[in-house]
Amino acid sequence: MRGSESLFGKLLSSRWTKVGTFVACLVPIALLARPLWMLATTGYSPQLTANPIEYITHYTGTWTIRFLLITLSVTPFRKIFNQPKIARYRRMLGLFAFFYVCLHFLTWFVLDKFFSFPEMWADILKRRYITVGMLGFAMLLPLAVTSTAGWVRRLGFVRWQRLHRLIYFAALAGVIHYYWLVKSDVRLPLMYGAILAVLVLYRWATRKPARQRAAPRPATTPSTASLPD
Ligand code: HEM
Repeated sequence: MRGSESLFGKLLSSRWTKVGTFVACLVPIALLARPLWMLATTGYSPQLTANPIEYITHYTGTWTIRFLLITLSVTPFRKIFNQPKIARYRRMLGLFAFFYVCLHFLTWFVLDKFFSFPEMWADILKRRYITVGMLGFAMLLPLAVTSTAGWVRRLGFVRWQRLHRLIYFAALAGVIHYYWLVKSDVRLPLMYGAILAVLVLYRWATRKPARQRAAPRPATTPSTASLPD
C-alpha cells in the first residue's frame, strides 16, 4: 500500500503529469474547435444546435463550475489521501476556472451583447442571475491576479490566504446563478450546490485552531503551489 502511495506521490511530482494535466484542462475547449470550424465553413454544426451562442454559453458555464469545484476538491483530496504533492495543481486548476469563466463571459458579452456596455449594464440590473454571475466573475478576478508567489509576498501569507477564500463565495455565486437561470429542472444546480456544501463543511470541520492559523510563515516565501489551504 505504501509502495503504491509513494508511486502516486512520485507521479504527482513529475513535470510530465503537470504538463498532462494542463493539456487535459484544455480538452473541453479543444472539443469545440471542430464544431466551430464546421459552423464557420458550412453555416451549421449539429453539435452546436440551432442556437450556437446558447450552446457555447452553457458549455463554458458548465466547465467553469466544474473547474471551481475541482479546484476546491484539491485540499480535501490532499488531506484525506495524504498526498501533499497534489497542492501543486491547485493554482493551475483555479486559473483554468478563470479561463473558462472569461470565455463564458466573453461569449455573452461579444456574441450576445455585441460589445454594448449599455446593454450589458441593463442586463446586469434586470436579470438577477446575471447580477450574481457577474459577482462571481468579479470575485475570481482578484484571485487570478494575485495567484503568483510575488503576490503572496506582497500581501503577506495570512492576508493572501484570507483573500483566496473568496473562491468559495465565487463558487456559491456560480451555483445560485445556475439555479436562478434554469427554468424547471433544478437537479444539476442542486447537485453542484450539494458538492459545494460538502466541500465547505469539510473545510470547516478540518480548520486549524485560530492560534495556529495566525502563526507567522517561515522567512522564505513558498510558491503558491506549495501553500497549505
Ligand atoms: C462564477 C461565475 C459563473 C459560473 C460558475 C457560471 C456558470 C454557468 C452555468 C453552469 C450555466 C448553465 C449551463 C447549462 O445550462 O448547461 C450558465 C449559463 C449562463 N451564464 Fe453563467 N456562470 C458564471 C458567470 C457568468 C457571467 C459573468 C455571465 C455574464 C454576465 C454569465 C452568463 C450566463 C448566461 C447568459 C447563461 C445562459 C442563460 C440561459 O440559458 O438563458 N455567467 N452559467
